[in-house]
Amino acid sequence: MAVSFKELGLVNTREMFKRAVNGGYAIPAFNFNNLEQLQAIIKASSELKSPVILQVSKGARKYANQTLLRYLAEGAVEYAKELGCHHPEIVLHLDHGDSFELCKNCVDTGFSSVMIDGSSLPYEENIALTKQVVDYAHQFDVTVEGELGVLAGVEDEVVAEESHYTKPEEVVDFATRTGVDSLAISIGTSHGAYKFKPEQCTRDPKTGRLVPPPLAFDVLEGVEKELPGFPIVLHGSSSVPQEYVDIINANGGKLPNAVGIPEEQLRKASKSAVCKINIDSDSRLAFTAGVRETFVQHPDYFDPRQYCGKAREYMEQLYAHKIKEVLGSDNKLAQLD
Ligand code: G3H
Ligand code: 13P
Ligand code: ZN
Repeated sequence: MAVSFKELGLVNTREMFKRAVNGGYAIPAFNFNNLEQLQAIIKASSELKSPVILQVSKGARKYANQTLLRYLAEGAVEYAKELGCHHPEIVLHLDHGDSFELCKNCVDTGFSSVMIDGSSLPYEENIALTKQVVDYAHQFDVTVEGELGVLAGVEDEVVAEESHYTKPEEVVDFATRTGVDSLAISIGTSHGAYKFKPEQCTRDPKTGRLVPPPLAFDVLEGVEKELPGFPIVLHGSSSVPQEYVDIINANGGKLPNAVGIPEEQLRKASKSAVCKINIDSDSRLAFTAGVRETFVQHPDYFDPRQYCGKAREYMEQLYAHKIKEVLGSDNKLAQLD
């Protein structure tokens, strides 16, 4: 039986994006696959009174089970209230939907927002598919994110060797003909913990660490000029914190040359029309750092609550840091009491 996101206490992205664009900050979109990630996201966002987008990929949906997900999302709203956040704004969002059927199923099972990612399709096919999803989702007040331009790396099961920046001259036509509520663009970010090859970077002479090239802010400005005030989304925006990479590598891991998007660039983007920033890999790194460290320090541990507990602490610190110091979404709920 179909369920509306409204029955679960969730909200769509419309109002929060309007406020974020006008207020010069971005809403965090954190991917989750398990209970510890969800707990850490809700704890950090509730304590900091931040709106939050819970993102579920097609793979995560399969991993966590779609029925359980609905109840987890409903539980997240109640948990936020228990933590003293009386008017939480929580979105349940499908990340990188790749078909009309998948998006429809999410709309029918309580998601309040869906992404249809037609970015690997020819332009006209991307428009047709995106419009089909928008026409269905809007009947139920579910908001839709589309994508124009190609990110390098893996986007769910689609692999692209090179990125193709979004063409600002296409965005008005795409937004008008599809009716999307927000648009993901390509300006040099990419998915995963290896966003740039060492040969694309320089090295910090003091630390020896890789320094990535800057994002294409000129493309972002071009898009903003064409679509003033329209909500823009950045995927692939993990910064790959070196502290977690170092913990992982010091405790038996092997992640050489992992590099992400510097946080000051994300801070700058948050002040523009970018109103949603997607972060997944950083949470994976924090989780892995917590687990690896605990196992090395306590070889006798075999209770998942012991090693997942430390991982959850690290993730909570990470989410709080992103909200407060990078995206600026703390204390931005419509009702703060
Ligand atoms: O866009 C990719 C997200 O990080 C989700 O990754 O498909 O492995 O769950 P996943
Ligand atoms: P990261 O791999 O940079 O965390 O990006 C996540 C993302 O874009 C999910 O859609
Ligand atoms: Zn993505």
